Amino acid sequence: MRQISVGSRGCGCRVLIGAGLLSRVGESLRPLVGGGKAVVVTVPPVRELYLQIVLDSMEDAGVEPLVLTVPDGEDAKTPRTYLDVVGSMLDAGAGRDALVVSLGGGCVGDLAGFVASTYMRGVRLVHIPTTLLAQVDSSIGGKSALNHPRAKNLIGSFHQPELVIADTMVLRTLPTKEVRCGLAEVLKYGAILDSELFGILEGKAEEVLGLNEVVLEDVVCRSAEIKARVVAADEMDRGERMLLNFGHTVGHAIEAATGYTGYSHGEAVAIGMAAESRIATRLGMIGDGEAERIVKLATRLGLPTRARGVAADELIWLMHGDKKAQGGRLRFALPDAIGSGSVVEVTDTGLIAEAISGVLGD
Ligand SMILES: NC(=O)c1ccc[n+]([C@@H]2O[C@H](COP(=O)([O-])OP(=O)(O)OC[C@H]3O[C@@H](n4cnc5c(N)ncnc54)[C@H](O)[C@@H]3O)[C@@H](O)[C@H]2O)c1
Ligand SMILES: [Zn+2]
Repeated sequence: MRQISVGSRGCGCRVLIGAGLLSRVGESLRPLVGGGKAVVVTVPPVRELYLQIVLDSMEDAGVEPLVLTVPDGEDAKTPRTYLDVVGSMLDAGAGRDALVVSLGGGCVGDLAGFVASTYMRGVRLVHIPTTLLAQVDSSIGGKSALNHPRAKNLIGSFHQPELVIADTMVLRTLPTKEVRCGLAEVLKYGAILDSELFGILEGKAEEVLGLNEVVLEDVVCRSAEIKARVVAADEMDRGERMLLNFGHTVGHAIEAATGYTGYSHGEAVAIGMAAESRIATRLGMIGDGEAERIVKLATRLGLPTRARGVAADELIWLMHGDKKAQGGRLRFALPDAIGSGSVVEVTDTGLIAEAISGVLGD
């Protein structure tokens, strides 16, 4: 088992990573529960696969659970689901000493985080992330979110979990599409923040895809460390955390342009990284060879690097409406070498359109 401290201001968040941690969840929760209830919020597929292991371990440790199952995927992040969870907690007599525990992917994690940050003005939170994306990204950093009918993640808060327990064994049951989605974020970390991680992915792409236990644990640990480091430097998402948006400015626009059904988030981010790498080459920040390495690695990890059915001008229009556009100017997190990057404002719309056009069509 490996342990990472997030160490951001006012937060003693620990991230535990290792194979088989799920069966020891109870002993980790015990000191955090006090006299209150542990409210386990989960989704049907994860409930089926892993709830019993968690409950057995909680029983052994003398932790009393309240299990709440919410709809899967983005349906977990609706205001309706949020109110249902709060209602169930009230019905069960959960007080200010309640501990909210998410068990599942980033969706239920975002919901549980928002519940924990608002229930009786805030209770403690633990994440047990079960997707690769949640283990390397969403469970670390303290962002929580609900979706509004008008936009994803529009309602949200910052509320750090006290503990994150990432059992890498659970990734074995994850559908391949979801594994790839998480790998897109791992590739992003490597490309913009850690050349060593990028090298591991290049050298061991097949082992990573095959969920080789040792390689996977290493990759999850390194990724979680990067996220923890960046978050600690910029807890409120005002500066350095922007670097984590590599691939996301174009990626979010691709998701929106295809109605959130054409490409998964990870796929859109992979295409976004290909497009934004081209922007970086046109700005002279990296050479064609480095951009090519990023695209090639994405392909080896089973991710698309070209998008169909969208137009460059539509994507640019959507990017201007995104949170990352400031005063009509577009900002991108771009690599300036493999493993290093910076946030730059790009005013030349022609350059952006030309770079994006290069990843559109067959
Ligand atoms: N808070 C943040 O900082 C942050 C960062 C990135 C993404 N997010 C959010 O995360 C969400 C996406 O999270 P996600 O990709 O984990 O999706 P998800 O939570 O929908 O999980 C994907 C699917 O995998 C299933 N699943 C989970 N674990 C499993 C397992 N071990 N075996 C088999 N199936 C399993 C889930 O039930 C679901 O059907 C988005 O809503 C996004 O906005 C938040
Ligand atoms: Zn992402």
